[in-house]
Amino acid sequence: MFSSSRILGSRVVRSSVIPRSALANTTATQCSRFHRSAISQNAIEDNQIPVTVFSAGEGTADKGTVNIDQASRLRNESASSPHYDAVHPLTRKLYDQMPHTMRSMSVYGKTIIITGGARGLGNSMTRACAEAGAKNIIIFDANQELGDEAAAELHDKTGLPISFFKVDVRDAAAINAAVDACVERYGAPDVLVNAAGIADSNIKAETYDVQMFRRLIDINLTGSFLMSQAVGRAMMAAEKPGSIVLVASMSGSVVNYPQEQSCYNASKAGVIQLGKSLAAEWAKNQIRVNCISPGYMDTALNRVPALDAQKKIWKSLTPQNRLGDVDELNGLCVFLASDSSKFMTGANCIIDGGYTCY
Ligand SMILES: NC(=O)c1ccc[n+]([C@@H]2O[C@H](COP(=O)([O-])OP(=O)(O)OC[C@H]3O[C@@H](n4cnc5c(N)ncnc54)[C@H](O)[C@@H]3O)[C@@H](O)[C@H]2O)c1
Repeated sequence: MFSSSRILGSRVVRSSVIPRSALANTTATQCSRFHRSAISQNAIEDNQIPVTVFSAGEGTADKGTVNIDQASRLRNESASSPHYDAVHPLTRKLYDQMPHTMRSMSVYGKTIIITGGARGLGNSMTRACAEAGAKNIIIFDANQELGDEAAAELHDKTGLPISFFKVDVRDAAAINAAVDACVERYGAPDVLVNAAGIADSNIKAETYDVQMFRRLIDINLTGSFLMSQAVGRAMMAAEKPGSIVLVASMSGSVVNYPQEQSCYNASKAGVIQLGKSLAAEWAKNQIRVNCISPGYMDTALNRVPALDAQKKIWKSLTPQNRLGDVDELNGLCVFLASDSSKFMTGANCIIDGGYTCY
């Protein structure tokens, strides 16, 4: 799989590539203003998905690519928390000393794919999964640079096997090829956390550009479906019980004020109903599907000067009078991924400092 070598900073990196020709045709002009630069910098080469793999105990990365094979094509035509820096992986010794209840609340031994894990909430969740005992963590993200950095940092801090696949969640062929590569390397995943997503706000419905509307739905809703489909199929093929955690939003249940954001709200309502539908369909396969619906969180998505005035209003409408810290969804994420929530499926868990009380 790996065909060439190069030095990345102080690391020795070996490289190879996954062919990819059926990739999303994204142009910078179609991108939301908040994500335009990140996405346009990371156009994916034809037929190949860049992959960075850190194996247990090794300080060097295998850097390469996964090919999108014909079968894949045919199947589907930075942080504010004071705790953010430290990551302490759960050791076998500690796990063995834990009482049953605490063990069941861990993700000990599980293989976990996290989309949007390069930064923000998804990145914080990758750290939490490492601390809660994950055996392998695989980050899928469209941002090559941040994805590489996130995988390298988490591997350095934990010694765990961490991989990064540069995957756009709109690209079914790329997703299928990447999931196949994960299965080959680590076995079928136990957990998918789908945190990749974008936001548009302060755009009136009557002037909303249809291309932008389609793009956001494609990333937030269709991306959630494609990731769930690929991982769900891998779990089914291995007859393995699994947990899928979709990051939706309180905006899927209430309309935010004062900003107009019809498309984002509709996309997240779609994610919540998608989660319920998949939960009902896949309960017979012992695959659980639940949503996390955050309120306003203090991530890069919201650290935009243009939103400063509105943030005051958001806080005033939130009983806790603040935005959530980036790590304040971690406990819920680990719980939903863990066996502790095994009777829970089709749920939408709102975690919003009380915003939806009013
Ligand atoms: N921040 C909030 O206040 C808030 C509130 C509710 C819900 N959410 C949701 O939480 C999720 C994460 O938000 P965040 O604040 O961490 O955002 P973020 O922008 O900090 O991180 C999003 C990550 O997703 C990746 N991504 C974007 N488009 C992608 C694509 N097409 N394919 C693959 N990866 C892609 C980005 O590269 C980035 O690493 C999103 O789904 C968002 O809608 C956020």
